[in-house]
Amino acid sequence: MIVVTGATGNVGRSLVESLAESGHAVTAVSRGVSSPPPSRPGVTPIAADLADVDSLIPALKGADALYLLVSGAGAHVDGEALLQAAADAGVSRVVLQSSQAAGTRPDAVSHAPLAALEETVRSSGLEWTVLRPGGFATNTFAWIPSIRAQRTVFSPFGDVALPAVDPLDIAEVAAAALTDTGHSGQTYVLTGPEATSPRQRAQILAAALGEPLEFVEVTREQAREQMLRQMPESVADGTLDILGQPLPEELRISPDVEKVLGRPATSFASWVGRSVDAFG
Ligand SMILES: NC(=O)c1ccc[n+]([C@@H]2O[C@H](COP(=O)([O-])OP(=O)(O)OC[C@H]3O[C@@H](n4cnc5c(N)ncnc54)[C@H](OP(=O)(O)O)[C@@H]3O)[C@@H](O)[C@H]2O)c1
Repeated sequence: MIVVTGATGNVGRSLVESLAESGHAVTAVSRGVSSPPPSRPGVTPIAADLADVDSLIPALKGADALYLLVSGAGAHVDGEALLQAAADAGVSRVVLQSSQAAGTRPDAVSHAPLAALEETVRSSGLEWTVLRPGGFATNTFAWIPSIRAQRTVFSPFGDVALPAVDPLDIAEVAAAALTDTGHSGQTYVLTGPEATSPRQRAQILAAALGEPLEFVEVTREQAREQMLRQMPESVADGTLDILGQPLPEELRISPDVEKVLGRPATSFASWVGRSVDAFG
């Protein structure tokens, strides 16, 4: 049995689907706050809070492998206690969803907790794989309200291009790392196949919608104000640092999605093709 935490989010929901589809028994963990748990044969939803390791113990019972996805910066998670509980329950393999910035900015307040969690996973004694995705294509969903209301995209750093990754690619790499041999001890950086700027993404979206979208570049401060409604200050500031002043490694197209899946990473345009209805 495979335990997936963050099971109702961008990556977790697809991962649960894909593991169940290929015949694995899955325990899907979330608090049940953001959206209802997945419901399908082979999937057992369990409500637990990663901030309370004891609440996870029933989910871990009888598990072989754990997909560890912590929301936000992961500062609320006691990694050592959690991995000890997993080992005690018989888990032998753990795949951690971290962030590219845990590698590129390990000392930033926003990403230090994930960098520390990586180290805890690597020294846990379990078979481990670490996934370090860059920015998700699904971050574009933040544009839905202004697109629906005003046919307008408000974004900072209009011309800074980054290789956004499709969360479905992350889920497929995660499924491979959880179920195939050969990924133990690997740290994979997961990006899209090409860099696109917010202005280019708005153009791609407009083409898919079949109508023009106005693009308005907002200041970092204006964007920060908006982000603080959804995330802690440290995460907003760390994210804006990456979006506005990416480091050379954050601009690089990683070969790892293709290396693991044997096919190219999904382009932003393909992600839009699958997701455009959400913007209409
Ligand atoms: N977005 C990006 O561009 C980006 C880039 C790199 C890395 N990341 C990393 O990716 C992760 C987010 O992945 P995602 O976008 O797939 O997730 P997401 O869509 O934000 O969903 C979060 C999931 O975790 C669950 N959850 C939240 N708090 C929880 C808690 N305390 N205990 C148990 N479950 C909890 C949520 O359900 P409930 O709320 O119902 O519990 C939901 O299932 C974060 O670690 C982030 O740092 C994101």
